[in-house]
Amino acid sequence: METVTSAREMKARCRAWRAQGLSVGLVPTMGYLHRGHGSLVERSLAENSRTAVSVFVNPSQFGPGEDLEAYPRDPARDSAFLKALGANVLFMPKAAEMYPPGFSTLVEAPALAARLCGASRPGHFRGVCTVVLKLLNIAAPDRAYFGLKDAQQFFILRRMARDLDLDVAMVPCPTVREDDGLAMSSRNSYLTPDERRAAPLLRRALLAAEGYLQGGGRDLEKARALVLETLASDPRFEAEYVEAVSTCDLQPAAEACGETLIAAAARLGRARLIDNVIFDPAGGARRPAGR
Ligand code: PAJ
Repeated sequence: METVTSAREMKARCRAWRAQGLSVGLVPTMGYLHRGHGSLVERSLAENSRTAVSVFVNPSQFGPGEDLEAYPRDPARDSAFLKALGANVLFMPKAAEMYPPGFSTLVEAPALAARLCGASRPGHFRGVCTVVLKLLNIAAPDRAYFGLKDAQQFFILRRMARDLDLDVAMVPCPTVREDDGLAMSSRNSYLTPDERRAAPLLRRALLAAEGYLQGGGRDLEKARALVLETLASDPRFEAEYVEAVSTCDLQPAAEACGETLIAAAARLGRARLIDNVIFDPAGGARRPAGR
């Protein structure tokens, strides 16, 4: 596996593969890799001739006072992890490579970013869209892989690809969890051992809502209340939001009639945990379509 830090070199590498008729998969990440990221890489390796992974802690998606400086980093471990998986190239640019002096173009999908994480993190998804569009332009992959742990991020990026006529398949991948149900996240490293033991409550809260819907319930206020009630059972959890929205426009829905995302964010100590369930009344727990 080669490591590339210049966008020009990364472009040349991916272009050469395409010229040879090889398909390219891209997995964008911010590093401090875990098995959740690994599952995206494995899926890309299975579906493409070549797999490119980017590791870039993107400053433009962090707000003032957020954890940009504290965000965990371990480039040597990431590199060894990706090499062991069999990734073909690791793109690890410096911030000045992605945002050179004079950089001034931003990409956003304001309606889809208005709620959920977008409401508590203003400008976050603008940073995400901007960097992911740049990464897609640099690697020009056939497919790009994203985790449904960050469901709003996936739905926004899928919309961006459609709206801007990008020639890439945006592939949603299931959330990978620890044995106790906690969604894997680089930010779980912020949890103390006690908090780590308490953390799966967020998953259990969302499963309570999913159980209600699977049992035939359709009242999304009731589903939200179940999540909030469960979270309230541990005073260390501070719910930031619990929302039930339609996956096509990310707007609140009163009843689960189409594919519905129930997403929650909660603070636990220094960590901000997010998780979600996606429910489709037509097919139970269906997976969202790509593209
Ligand atoms: P990061 O948090 O590093 O996540 C990179 C990718 O891995 C995202 O698509 C995310 O949804 C996925 N992922 C994270 N945890 C996962 C888990 N437990 N199971 C499955 N997939 C998981 O998301 C970002 O970085 C950035 O916003 C990025 C898209 C790279 C843009 O900077």
